[in-house]
Amino acid sequence: MPPLRLLPPETAHRLAIWSLKLGLTPDPGPDDPRLAVAAFGITFTNPVGLAAGFDKNAEAWRPAQRLGFGFVEVGSVTPRPQAGNPRPRLFRLTRDRAIINRLGFNNDGVAAMAEHLAGRKPGAGILGVNLGKNKETVDAAIDYEIGASRLGPLANYIAINVSSPNTPGLRALQGKVPLQDLVRRTHRALAEACGGKGPPLLLKIAPDLTDQDLEDIVEVALQGELAGLIVTNTTIARPASLGSRHARETGGLSGRPLFAPSTEILRRVYRLTGGRLPLIGVGGIASGADAYAKIRAGATLVQLYTALVYEGPGLVRRIKRDLVDYLERDGLTSISAAIGLDRR
Ligand SMILES: Cc1cc2nc3c(=O)[nH]c(=O)nc-3n(C[C@H](O)[C@H](O)[C@H](O)COP(=O)(O)O)c2cc1C
Repeated sequence: MPPLRLLPPETAHRLAIWSLKLGLTPDPGPDDPRLAVAAFGITFTNPVGLAAGFDKNAEAWRPAQRLGFGFVEVGSVTPRPQAGNPRPRLFRLTRDRAIINRLGFNNDGVAAMAEHLAGRKPGAGILGVNLGKNKETVDAAIDYEIGASRLGPLANYIAINVSSPNTPGLRALQGKVPLQDLVRRTHRALAEACGGKGPPLLLKIAPDLTDQDLEDIVEVALQGELAGLIVTNTTIARPASLGSRHARETGGLSGRPLFAPSTEILRRVYRLTGGRLPLIGVGGIASGADAYAKIRAGATLVQLYTALVYEGPGLVRRIKRDLVDYLERDGLTSISAAIGLDRR
């Protein structure tokens, strides 16, 4: 990955997927048992996951798992294939250790993903599927129903993504009334496709939400059909600190400048849920200290994407090693003991 940074970003990304598929990744070995954590009925051998957007078509989920991730989330996938926005649409903000993307759900569609996941063994690592909607679909819930029916039976969890900034109208689905309808319909489609009890359903939210928005989302989340929340997607905000020439590009900002605002949202959601709902903390994680801070703020699991681009795949192993050191430092015997520690 660091040498790949000499290439244009989309070329580098294709090459990263391609080299993963070549299968040159060494076996990461077993995880320290202190890193094991349970959430929504699943036991994870470690809490560090690959965030959505890296493997949009589930082409490389198996080798990605071999980088040492405790789970991999593929997608966002839409019912029909779509090309996404015109290029350029992906920008490295190297000085800021950040990325801006306005890809707009470029992906090969649910049928292609289902083909890639066919024959997946239940014990072959934990896989989440992140669902989006096609740009021109008017009744958005239909797209999530299609995704849930087709891919629910192949996934360990399903995530509803209503927080990408690059599909017009998408983030409005985070409002209380549309969200209630969306969650109910997706949950029903999932249960029907899986013969009663489907995999857990999660919701991925934006960092650009008001306190009232968060209260509404948590109220819907606690009604019973959602098993957890993923906090957060990329931001449309542009912190004054940004120093890279691409800082003013339109799209979602990820990486280091997202760490503080997304962790603040995580902290608020944890306070509102009172620990009743597992949270996946994502946004700007680039070290064991960052991952541990998210867990202390209320995350049961964490995810990352942008730091992989800057730090390379050895980052996952370093984060896990450092997490064990932090647990030892704080006299804790498991990740679960650290969840939400800042509030206790
Ligand atoms: C290039 C790129 C593409 C992304 N695509 C998606 C996507 O399709 N669906 C989604 O839910 N999140 C997507 N994300 C957001 C990430 O999953 C994550 O929430 C965000 O980047 C914050 O984490 P990070 O700072 O570790 O990258 C994308 C992020 C990047 C950088």
